[in-house]
Amino acid sequence: MKHTVQITIDGKTTDLPVLEATAGLDVVDVRSLISQGVYTYDPGFLSTAACDSTITYIDGDAGILTYCGYPIEQLADHSEHLEVCYLLLHSELPTAAQLHQFKSDITDRMPVDPQFAQIFNGFTQTSHPMSMLCAAVAGLASLFHEGLDIYNPDHRLESAMQLIAKIPTLAAMSYRKSIGATFVDPDPALGYAENFLNMCFGETGRASQVSPTLAHALDKIFILHADHEQNASTSTVRLAGSTEANPYAAIAAGIAALWGPSHGGANEAVLDMLNEIGDLSRVGEYVDKAKDKEDPFKLMGFGHRVYKNFDPRATVMQASCQAVLAEQGVEEEPLLKVASALEKIAREEAYFIDRKLYPNIDFYSGITLKAMGIPTPMYTALFALGRMPGWIAHWSEMLSSPFKIGRPRQLYLGPVKRDYVPMDQR
Ligand code: SDX
Repeated sequence: MKHTVQITIDGKTTDLPVLEATAGLDVVDVRSLISQGVYTYDPGFLSTAACDSTITYIDGDAGILTYCGYPIEQLADHSEHLEVCYLLLHSELPTAAQLHQFKSDITDRMPVDPQFAQIFNGFTQTSHPMSMLCAAVAGLASLFHEGLDIYNPDHRLESAMQLIAKIPTLAAMSYRKSIGATFVDPDPALGYAENFLNMCFGETGRASQVSPTLAHALDKIFILHADHEQNASTSTVRLAGSTEANPYAAIAAGIAALWGPSHGGANEAVLDMLNEIGDLSRVGEYVDKAKDKEDPFKLMGFGHRVYKNFDPRATVMQASCQAVLAEQGVEEEPLLKVASALEKIAREEAYFIDRKLYPNIDFYSGITLKAMGIPTPMYTALFALGRMPGWIAHWSEMLSSPFKIGRPRQLYLGPVKRDYVPMDQR
């Protein structure tokens, strides 16, 4: 692409600089357009790059996803979630000594202050885990707000470590609250995913009985969810962080955004959809609903704003899903037969092929988590747990160089100026 493009407005031509990417699309820098008295218009940001970043790269047509240049397939096969957390925070893979220290630093920060834990007393047992998690993470600011200098890289790293360490504990506490059970303390002898599962399903003081296969599968799910460029929740974290808000508040905003069924809430919505369909005999009825423009129903777990051939995470997730199903001996689960039928139709029917609607990561993660015995309301909380390093890495990246508060403009279509009408004249 040339180094400039031209735009002509009312006969006046302006050169706009083109900024070159190291991979993917170059961008046209439109920042000077306001001086020409015009905005760009892009609801949903389909054609808009909101920032520059060195963290994650996605090629939606080629199905490529890399964290700091490393392909997601290789990280899923060879790495572990805390190593990926280190990579996202430091842009380089750790040495063995660095990883050992990082794991120890995270483990030391996993316990939640008992007085703070009383925040969960404010929730009913039927509270959704995401509502509890969102509130609890925002509440962490009450513990770490004082003296936090967001422009100090050491303070930013400490905030990142606290959030990566506390999110499994708070997520497990949300689950335990939802089943009316007492909290299980983190066990410093356990790995990250195993510790989370033990805090959910174990007992304080009893040796972990977590299946290594399930802990490994969950750790891989966390890796696959760790970051994904400027998705809705990460963009929310950046926008909230651009006001210089406390990182715990900015991350809580990201958790709130993730909850929506169009985004991270899709994994829970996939299971709700499969339960609603219920039986192979009703799959056709629901596929027709998904294709009906008049019907708001969408096939949850299908489609993606960026991936238009396949979601590389879904490919890895599908293999992991089959391994968990085999381990759990649930291949014959009726819901899974419905899922397989939906997947087959979406790969064969013109409506889905024409719109490039393929299964995304949420389709398989929902099924895998069900096979692992994870309660459906916890699925999006697990997505938040996995995405934590990505969110905080983007927040820190933004703070590490000059930035401006995010403040989009609009195309105004409301009433033009008019005078107030006294009541007796209305
Ligand atoms: C995640 O951005 C990220 O990176 C997100 C994520 C991450 O890691 O952070 O990857 C995680 O959020 C994955 C997506 C999870 N959401 C779902 O599975 C919900 C179901 N999917 C849809 O809501 C939708 O596909 C989106 C939200 C994912 C993408 O929406 P877009 O890009 O705005 O696409 P669109 O709504 O404009 O759809 C284009 C066409 C439309 O039909 P036409 O008007 O062209 O005739 O495809 C149709 C849509 O009606 N369509 C669907 C559909 N998704 C899109 N039709 C039926 N079922 C669907 N799921």
